[in-house]
Amino acid sequence: MKISPQAGRKFGVIVEGFDAETASPQEIVELKKAIYTNKIAVLKNQDLSPRQFLALGERLGRVSEYYEPVYHHPEVKEVFVSSNVKEEDGRQIGVPKTGKFWHSDYQFMPRPFDITMIYPQVVPSKNRGTYFINMATAYEKLSEELKLAAKDTTATHSVLRYFKIRPTDVYRPISEIIDEVNAKTPPVTSPLAFAHPHTDETVLYVSEGFTLSLQDADGNDRSELLTELLTATGQLDRTYEHENIHLQTFEKGDMLLWDNRSLIHRALHTATPEPAVSYRVTVYDDVDTAA
Ligand SMILES: [Fe+2]
Repeated sequence: MKISPQAGRKFGVIVEGFDAETASPQEIVELKKAIYTNKIAVLKNQDLSPRQFLALGERLGRVSEYYEPVYHHPEVKEVFVSSNVKEEDGRQIGVPKTGKFWHSDYQFMPRPFDITMIYPQVVPSKNRGTYFINMATAYEKLSEELKLAAKDTTATHSVLRYFKIRPTDVYRPISEIIDEVNAKTPPVTSPLAFAHPHTDETVLYVSEGFTLSLQDADGNDRSELLTELLTATGQLDRTYEHENIHLQTFEKGDMLLWDNRSLIHRALHTATPEPAVSYRVTVYDDVDTAA
């Protein structure tokens, strides 16, 4: 196994010669260290079945099955499917147009995933990739004034703005769906800045997609601070040229593994989409995590 920095990129490493079937415990430790230190690891030349993909996830930690079954792979339910391709019989497997907003995975849940693994299956010929922002670096770059404002502030997150209406929701009143979403995944409140459990970096935990509101220590709403932080970190830049934004591209055979505690990401979708299918496995790294 050879780990080397991605030439000319803000962060991320390339991992060559990694064999998911025969990787030693030491290689798994090194891989996880590379993910937490460099934020993204791109495993080259992978050729895994959904079951083998899941097995690799299980070596990294505790795999979590997505709470909405509409995303599940039909044979391996722990594999989440993002797809805009219909089966030959017209069935839709997985969900199209996922993640077109800044977020970290499960940010709207009491505990986000530690590691996200994405394994593209059908790769578009152009405009492929995912945007990332490292929110530990973004925190470091904030003005002292904003860092101070982030202290003793909490953030409330919810899936509601980006919850995908399911085929079974058609003709249901929207108020009923909203009530159901709020009952199943109530908004969660967490510190706005927290210490990363694996690296101890301070991470600003806020996203354009899932953060509904900020509150100061007295419970007062700080919506103007939310806008300032989203702007300062680059999340409102629709040109995607902000210095914090990193575009991670990939090719067939690549698998992306990233630190979901410090990175937020946003799918790159175009007005004229090509067929695209990705598998995802998400992992809780309980071994080293106190939370
Ligand atoms: Fe995501």
